[in-house]
Amino acid sequence: MLSPTSDDNTTKNKQHYDKRYAKIDISKILKIVENVDKYLDEVTVVDTSWVCMYSRNFREEVKGKKILELGCGNCYNAAVMAALGAEVYANDISDKSGAIIEALNAKTNFKYPIKYLKGDFLKIELLPNDFDLVVGKAFLHHLTHEQESEFMKKIVASLKPEGGARFVEPAVNNLILDKLRWMIPVPGRPSSLNIKKFKEWQANDPHPIRDNSGKHYKALGNNSFKEVAIESVGSIERLHRLFPNVKWNRKFRFHALKFERLLPKFILNKFARTQTIIYKFPR
Ligand SMILES: C[S@@+](CC[C@H](N)C(=O)[O-])C[C@H]1O[C@@H](n2cnc3c(N)ncnc32)[C@H](O)[C@@H]1O
Repeated sequence: MLSPTSDDNTTKNKQHYDKRYAKIDISKILKIVENVDKYLDEVTVVDTSWVCMYSRNFREEVKGKKILELGCGNCYNAAVMAALGAEVYANDISDKSGAIIEALNAKTNFKYPIKYLKGDFLKIELLPNDFDLVVGKAFLHHLTHEQESEFMKKIVASLKPEGGARFVEPAVNNLILDKLRWMIPVPGRPSSLNIKKFKEWQANDPHPIRDNSGKHYKALGNNSFKEVAIESVGSIERLHRLFPNVKWNRKFRFHALKFERLLPKFILNKFARTQTIIYKFPR
C-alpha cells in the first residue's frame, strides 16, 4: 500500500492528463507514422526529448523488440516505435491514451498493433522476464520517490536478463538555475515570485516535489541494474527562448545542440535541462 501522498499524486496525474489528452489530434500522429524516418531525422536534431530518446542509435535498437512504454501519454513515441517495427505495450493511467491507441491501430498497418495496458502501472499484471526494453519519456519525474522505488522493482521483474530501460527526464543539477527557471512565468504557470498564485498552481500540478538530479537517477539505477549511463542534453540549447521567431529558434537549437556536444561532461551535467537515463542488465 502506498502513502496518501502517492495516491493523491496518482489522482492528480489522472485528472490532469485525462483533460489534456481529450484534445489529441491523431491525424498528426498518422502523418508521422507514414514517414517515420523523415520525422525522426527532423526532431532528433532540434528537440531535446527526441534527441535524448533516440540517442546511441536507439532507432535501430527498437526494431523487432518487445517494449513496454510507461506513461505513453499522447502516444507519439509508442506510435513511432511501432512504426519502426517494435512490439509495443503502452501503459498510462489516463484512459484517453487507450482511446488514442485504439484509433491509431484502426488506421495504421503496424506489424504489431500497439497493446494498451490500462491504469496505474503498479496495479497491472505482467509476466516475469518478458520485455526486452522498458521506456519512459518524461515519466519518472511524475512519481513520488516511494512510487518510483515500487515501479523499479516491477520494471526489473518484467525485463529479460539481457534487457534494459531508457528514460528521458528533466535534469536538475544546478539549484540556482532551477530557482531562476521557476521565477520566469510560462503560459499556464505563474512566476514563483508571485507566491500566492504559484502555490495555487502547485496544488494542482501533477509533478511531485522530488529529486531529478543525475546523481539521484544514477543511484536509482545502481540499485537494480548492472550498467548505468546518464547523458545530459540542453546546456546551451536551454537559451532557445531568447529566439521567439520559429525559424531562428529552430536554427539556434540545431547549432546549440551540435556545439554543446564538444563541451566537457561536467559542464554539460551542471547546465543541461534534459537527461537520457540508460539502465542495462537487471540485477
Ligand atoms: C509528462 S506525461 C508524458 C507523456 C508522454 N510520454 C510524452 O512524452 O508526452 C506523464 C505521463 O505519465 C502518466 N502517469 C502518471 N502516473 C502514472 C501511473 N501511476 N501509471 C501510469 N501512468 C502514469 C500520466 O498520465 C502522463 O500521461
